[in-house]
Amino acid sequence: MSKLGIGFIGCGGIHTAHAPSLVDNPDAFIACAMDVNPEAVKKHQENYGATCGTTSLDELLAHPEVEAVVVCTPTAFHKEGVLAAAAAGKHIFCEKPMSLSVADCEEMDAAARKAGVVLQLGFVRHFCNEWLKLREILQDGIIGRPVSWRQMMSSSGPAVPWFNDAKIGGGPFIDGCVHNYDFGRFIFGDASNVVTDITRMKSDRTAWDTGTVIVNYGSGDQQVICWSWGLPGDGLSSGFFHDVLGPEGFISFPGGNTLTVTRADGVQEVEFEADDGGIWFRRQMAHFIECCKTGAQPEAGGKEGLEATRIAAAALDNGGRPTIVTL
Ligand SMILES: NC(=O)c1ccc[n+]([C@@H]2O[C@H](COP(=O)([O-])OP(=O)(O)OC[C@H]3O[C@@H](n4cnc5c(N)ncnc54)[C@H](O)[C@@H]3O)[C@@H](O)[C@H]2O)c1
Repeated sequence: MSKLGIGFIGCGGIHTAHAPSLVDNPDAFIACAMDVNPEAVKKHQENYGATCGTTSLDELLAHPEVEAVVVCTPTAFHKEGVLAAAAAGKHIFCEKPMSLSVADCEEMDAAARKAGVVLQLGFVRHFCNEWLKLREILQDGIIGRPVSWRQMMSSSGPAVPWFNDAKIGGGPFIDGCVHNYDFGRFIFGDASNVVTDITRMKSDRTAWDTGTVIVNYGSGDQQVICWSWGLPGDGLSSGFFHDVLGPEGFISFPGGNTLTVTRADGVQEVEFEADDGGIWFRRQMAHFIECCKTGAQPEAGGKEGLEATRIAAAALDNGGRPTIVTL
């Protein structure tokens, strides 16, 4: 089978997680790299060797060897890349969040369906052994149902300013937490409502940076997400803390290659194969290439991108102040 030609739209931070997966993959190659910043294009070519580099989206999409694109632009610009790629008949891998509004996501999903191209979202946790093991344990009911999954994280947030611009990145309650919303849906099914109280600790930004979002699922399960990108400095982080409480026990995460299940009848270490760094991204990209070649539905597609954005949009509704939004 011939190698799939890939074009990058955006060659910044996250593209450096995807490009090595393509350089190593025997079924694909990087045909062209595009970024509005010529320095980013040059750096891509030096590091990953695409022979074609351009600052023009039209030029990238007209390249005869580009059959699929990987959209790695800041979130507010995903839509333009996805719509143009779909119109040009290219398969699409789009980084998460899909976009900042539900209406944008609906348009993007509809465009990919109409064009008959693959649209995969960058929900990389679907390719991580630890997250998949957690899903298996919860769905097996080892700690009973419904559960309450508590997730806490605080940090300085990304150093690149657009992440905290409400109109470009949207801040942590969409940019970071969209992974949590998506994985919650992947385990529990559709959300039924969202309860939010978020605020802003830093005044130099337009996005909300600190607070709590509770997502209630139709299954009766709940996620309680307490996040902040409001810590000072660059790179300060409290790390992640999460656990899952159920009527028959709780799950904790000691790190390494185990999850701990504690029930009234004892403590059980559940082992899984630990992942090496970067392997999630490699599995994710291999899956995308496979879908492009076979026409299979991706693990996390436009529908998943749209529904995760629906939860984020509900969380950010009413300016993030206390509200209950029925979905
Ligand atoms: N899956 C993950 O875990 C993960 C991690 C980090 C970032 N992301 C997502 O990936 C996307 C990009 O994030 P990043 O960290 O790479 O950002 P970044 O700022 O490091 O890189 C973005 C690149 O896009 C370029 N760009 C801006 N506008 C463009 C346009 N209209 N057309 C083409 N290029 C354009 C910029 O010049 C820059 O090189 C965001 O949506 C972000 O949320 C996902």
